[in-house]
Amino acid sequence: MKKVRTPIIGGNWKMHRGTPEKAREMLENLIPLVKDIESVDIVIAPPFTALGVASILKVTNIKLGAQNMYYEDEGAFTGEISPTFLNALEIDYIILGHSERRNIFNESSELVNKKLKKALSVGLNPIVCIGEHLKEREAGKTKEVIKKQFENTFAGLSKEDMDKTVIAYEPIWAIGTGKTATPEQADEVHQYIREILIDSYDKKTAENVRIQYGGSVKPHNAKELFEKKNIDGGLVGGASLEAKSFAQIIKEAEKTI
Ligand code: 13P
Repeated sequence: MKKVRTPIIGGNWKMHRGTPEKAREMLENLIPLVKDIESVDIVIAPPFTALGVASILKVTNIKLGAQNMYYEDEGAFTGEISPTFLNALEIDYIILGHSERRNIFNESSELVNKKLKKALSVGLNPIVCIGEHLKEREAGKTKEVIKKQFENTFAGLSKEDMDKTVIAYEPIWAIGTGKTATPEQADEVHQYIREILIDSYDKKTAENVRIQYGGSVKPHNAKELFEKKNIDGGLVGGASLEAKSFAQIIKEAEKTI
């Protein structure tokens, strides 16, 4: 099987392993397990309080990401983090619009759009999440929901900026539930996102943009997901917290190259 795009595996640690000790412990176990992997982009996104691990990732093949940011450089925004602060820590990636941000913290696609444009303007690589609720899927509205989220989240993005953006398709019903979308279900939505990319941009952009799948990716189901034509790796929550399981998932992605 030959992949057109370089797979990208992200570890979204959410609100776990947020102390420098816990983050370092995991990474010291992970680094030797994946040190020879060159054909997969590996990203770890710890909580802000553990971003100091940048120093130990410097000479490795693991890139660092953050889980959120605000769209202003500085100001009276209590509790928020500026993209320029992240840049100073040599953060490469930024996760934006995760369903937990959208649902628990009421982030709208319009807000995510502002953050996305800001991230791109300061040179952070965005990983932008979209996905439907179970009720929407059961009502046969998945494509409708994805299209609307896409249009509002990526509004006004140039072709060049879209090229730099990673999309993470994360069906909300599959997150942290152990209920993975089947490879066919996931691939169908990824294919649909590529169709939207063709309509909004062009065929080349649709071929370039990487679309990760997220939602209960585990070592035992990673292979069949990553083998699908339109799936370019995964955004992993629970299974990214342990070095062994995360490394196994990365290795499954490497096998699809
Ligand atoms: P789980 O892998 O724990 O289902 O989380 C997925 C996710 O939300 C990644 O961003």
